[in-house]
Amino acid sequence: MPSTVPANPPLPCLPTQFIKKDIMKRTNNYSFLIACLAAALLPVNAPAQTTTELRQWQFSRDSLNWQTVTVPHDWAISGPFDKKWDLQKVAIVQNGEKEKTEKSGRSGALPWIGRGYYSTQIEAPTAAGERTFVVFDGAMSNAHVYINGTQCGYWPYGYNAFRVELTPYLHAGSNTLTVSLNNPKESSRWYPGAGLYRPVTLVRTGKVTLDPWYTYLRTKQISNSQATLLFDTQVKGSLGNDVWAVEVQLIDKKGRVAAASHGDVDSAGCVTMPVIVPHAQLWSPESPYLYKAVTTLYRNNKPVSTLTRNTGICTVSVDSVHGFQLNGVSRKLKGVCLHHDLGALGAAVNKAALIRQAKLLKSMGCDAIRTSHNMPSEMQIEVYDSLGLMVMAESFDTWIYPKVKNGYAQFFKQWADKDIETLVRHNRNHPSLVMYSIGNEIPEQWSKEGADIARHLQDICHSLDDVHPVTQGMDRPDAALKSGFAQTMDIPGWNYRVYKYDKAIKQLPQGFQLGSETASTVSSRGVYKFPVKLSSWAVYPDGQCSSYDTEWCSWSNLPDVDFMIQDDRTNTIGQFVWTGFDYLGEPTPYDEYWPSRSSYFGIFDLAGLPKDRYYLYRSQWNKHEHTLHLLPHWTWPGREGKVTPVFCYTDYPEAELFVNGKSQGRIRKTHYTVADAASTTRMDVVDSLTRRYRLRWDNVVYQPGNITVVAYDSLGHKAATQTVTTAGKPAKLLLQPDRDVIEANGEDLSFVTVSLTDKQGTLYPWGDSELLFSVEGAGTLRGLCNGDATSLEVFTGKQMKLFGGMLVAIVQSNGQKGKINLNVKSQDGKFKATKVIEAK
Ligand code: GAL
Repeated sequence: MPSTVPANPPLPCLPTQFIKKDIMKRTNNYSFLIACLAAALLPVNAPAQTTTELRQWQFSRDSLNWQTVTVPHDWAISGPFDKKWDLQKVAIVQNGEKEKTEKSGRSGALPWIGRGYYSTQIEAPTAAGERTFVVFDGAMSNAHVYINGTQCGYWPYGYNAFRVELTPYLHAGSNTLTVSLNNPKESSRWYPGAGLYRPVTLVRTGKVTLDPWYTYLRTKQISNSQATLLFDTQVKGSLGNDVWAVEVQLIDKKGRVAAASHGDVDSAGCVTMPVIVPHAQLWSPESPYLYKAVTTLYRNNKPVSTLTRNTGICTVSVDSVHGFQLNGVSRKLKGVCLHHDLGALGAAVNKAALIRQAKLLKSMGCDAIRTSHNMPSEMQIEVYDSLGLMVMAESFDTWIYPKVKNGYAQFFKQWADKDIETLVRHNRNHPSLVMYSIGNEIPEQWSKEGADIARHLQDICHSLDDVHPVTQGMDRPDAALKSGFAQTMDIPGWNYRVYKYDKAIKQLPQGFQLGSETASTVSSRGVYKFPVKLSSWAVYPDGQCSSYDTEWCSWSNLPDVDFMIQDDRTNTIGQFVWTGFDYLGEPTPYDEYWPSRSSYFGIFDLAGLPKDRYYLYRSQWNKHEHTLHLLPHWTWPGREGKVTPVFCYTDYPEAELFVNGKSQGRIRKTHYTVADAASTTRMDVVDSLTRRYRLRWDNVVYQPGNITVVAYDSLGHKAATQTVTTAGKPAKLLLQPDRDVIEANGEDLSFVTVSLTDKQGTLYPWGDSELLFSVEGAGTLRGLCNGDATSLEVFTGKQMKLFGGMLVAIVQSNGQKGKINLNVKSQDGKFKATKVIEAK
């Protein structure tokens, strides 16, 4: 057994019943204590545990040739793209396939298969008795960890955090820490990335210490404005005959002690105590208020160690009467599923990229993320804590029965409990966490054995976390209901199959259901196909999908169907759309088409540019801002006189469309609904639903000029207008950074959208020029991405073609302060531009 977290979690220190009574008993004393502390504002002098991120490593693919890299690092993202990497000849059973065929881009067509080695130097601790751990937030995959050549740890699952105690292996002075990784072929249904793609941290602690994975602070109750939190910890190390105690302080944003609590450590090292917060500020997506929780360990009344982290106050509950509630307020989850890769950055996690994603999603009205199909990075969940997005933290895509030949199934029996335990310990303190998911479309859902495993994994979550419910995404409602699998879950989640919802709810004792995965509508930004028709599995010679948002997969549906089921059924508690952003691999419906190596499901493309669908979701989800968006673009040389339907995505109920000033009719959204969800498989029903959620002018004839929409509010008053104009000749490159000032920390990024426009600044949507990039000053070019799923130009090169007239260049700080010049010119020499970004 490696020196990592114990295989079987110790039971919580106190039985729950006792905890509840104890809260009541202690409450009054604590108000007094808080008052004293608030007056004194106790300084905490205890030494903090030291944590150092290990960023500089030597890296090699063959252990002979080494190069210096910075971690987080994804060794495969610089390509080159090639269909030979992980070429899978398989039948994708979940997609209903029976025959094996060649799937060229299934896992991204990037060189992530095989071995990789990382090595770095660490110093032995200087103080006697100090302990040293190395914490990996995830390593892809099959990580063997060595110190000075001796193996000291192993963790197979690439998506989970794990840690290794190095103390017994260290000798005085410098020590060599080495990690060997190995990614087998056919081990993934998507691009997993490769290497030390999440942070690696060195942690030094005293002999007796507070262990963050054994320290848990959660909200049990909020009444009036007072919150009752419950804290417990298990102090690590030998306690001897000393007297040990723990104090928790909650510090508000103004630096004031908002609450405090003090408890004695028992002989097993445990402390359980309430923390009462008068006038609590609650955490929610709309107002993600964070406190600092400062936990101090005292030995014989002297502070010896502190642990500080962000915390938030919020309760989560779900039942058949109120549905899903955050802080006692019912709401339907408006979520998206996200894969872990960050487009051109690959799997290498980056805070600026996560913040950009989160802000874009929030602007759409999205309030929740499902980390499909695996554990979030700590950086990711921290970003959601501070920006306000609720999280479904997932774990597995497979249990015992494999979906890919060499995937996690081979480890499940031996490792699943440990992986779930770590998922919970690592994430349970985060306010953004609202539920765990123990699996995605697990083939075992048809069997009693499957129901038993589900119960077992859910029980592990419950034993370590008494406030967060557990779900999983099921895709075989009939089988899962027959076997009892679905009835087992705290929250039954369905992937797609809205047409089964009305039948399923009758068999669910829970009385509610979640759309754990929805839509899987496919589109390519800026690409429109004619004639416009609703269709399942449409494919075209260019390997693209239509941005009219009319195409889906055999198992999935259009967003309009999900909107209806969420709007019209009180038993639904929300949805997670597949997917927020495009991701590498799984190029459905072009799994067999080369070159195609990334998804079409995203609401945003792989570069993070919004597709039209963004506005469709925004029109329904964003309740604070109006949406008025017309599609398609209006630059169609050669389509003169041809039918070119115009759609409008808006929250307004009614609008009139004009082509070059001539009315095309004033239309209203319908109130169309369906009494039985089963009918949503019918094309006429889907068509009617699109007329409830979109305004469609199907017979517009294209003429160059402009289209203008005039929207009317519910009282019939003119409320807003939008015009889309035919672009003239391409005239210039427009460079628009998401941030023009970044931190000079060597990690921060600016995402610069590059667009080819006419003289007036109207996007020229046919722009496909090859652009050449250079960066001078205090930064480097980190990546380029145009969102074209069929492009084989590497993300880490210095040139890329525009796609739909646009691409995104990612500029990174090099650690120096100063100006960064991003220079762009087209290969044919016609266009050039420069943008200055400042690193401060
Ligand atoms: C689901 C699956 C996802 C993804 C999606 C594509 O069935 O859970 O991982 O494959 O289909 O539509």
